[in-house]
Amino acid sequence: MRVTKKDRTKNYKRETTASEKQITDRRHLYKLFEERPMDTDQLLVNLGLYMRSSALTKILFLNEAYRMIKNQPGIIVELGSWWGQNLIVFENLRAIYEPWEQRRIVGFDTFEGYKSISVKDIRSETIKEGGYAVIEGYKKYLEDLIDYHEKNSVSPTVNRVQLVKGNAAETVPKFFTENNGMVVALVYSDLALYEPSKAAFEAIRPHLLPGSVVMLDECNHKDFPGETMAFKEVFAGASFSVKKSDFMPGRTYFTMK
Ligand SMILES: C[S@@+](CC[C@H](N)C(=O)[O-])C[C@H]1O[C@@H](n2cnc3c(N)ncnc32)[C@H](O)[C@@H]1O
Repeated sequence: MRVTKKDRTKNYKRETTASEKQITDRRHLYKLFEERPMDTDQLLVNLGLYMRSSALTKILFLNEAYRMIKNQPGIIVELGSWWGQNLIVFENLRAIYEPWEQRRIVGFDTFEGYKSISVKDIRSETIKEGGYAVIEGYKKYLEDLIDYHEKNSVSPTVNRVQLVKGNAAETVPKFFTENNGMVVALVYSDLALYEPSKAAFEAIRPHLLPGSVVMLDECNHKDFPGETMAFKEVFAGASFSVKKSDFMPGRTYFTMK
């Protein structure tokens, strides 16, 4: 898949708390990365050289989330998988923590970014039609990448990680109608919008067991109220404990009782 720099950054302004100066300073890191004095093989085992603390924090957070459900039966669902890094990290954590457990990991995304934004959501440079779109053909590329990781881990597997393309408001209910016997161990909720989050939570709720975890990426976020509103409506009356992530305090775990 050949892509240009323009393709890579199309339709995308990332949420960030970095200052203008920090953003400018990053250009030096980009330059050092582009001028790296090592070949691809060496790069892939030394990625930490270029990982900023925020990127490392994300990996530690994914590890924290996985550890919470390690002894919980069920699949992992990511609502809004974007480039799919979380799915691949979860698959590799599965291979590390439970090499003989064939836990399924399912990522839902339009792969075309945000489609429709309700009046309950707040529009911005990030939340707009087409925001977070990946490039055309990316699903196939990600499937190849997933296939590599599945086949080459310490406990090789195939087709345990699945991508479901389309509007989650439709694809999540359809998935659970077709997989009615399935239970869910972890929901990584990151659609940010009210309507698809609500439809997805409604479809998923009957598949949660005591101990299952729903993780909200945008809990109580002033710019992204939709996900929290949807959660509060669908899980009103449910019994759960609440814990903020040790690594990313905005991320919040709701463990069902
Ligand atoms: C904030 S990004 C997800 C980031 C990702 N979880 C991560 O941590 O790397 C939100 C994602 O939700 C997807 N999305 C938004 N609305 C959607 C919908 N109605 N159905 C499916 N995916 C949707 C977007 O395409 C985007 O990839």
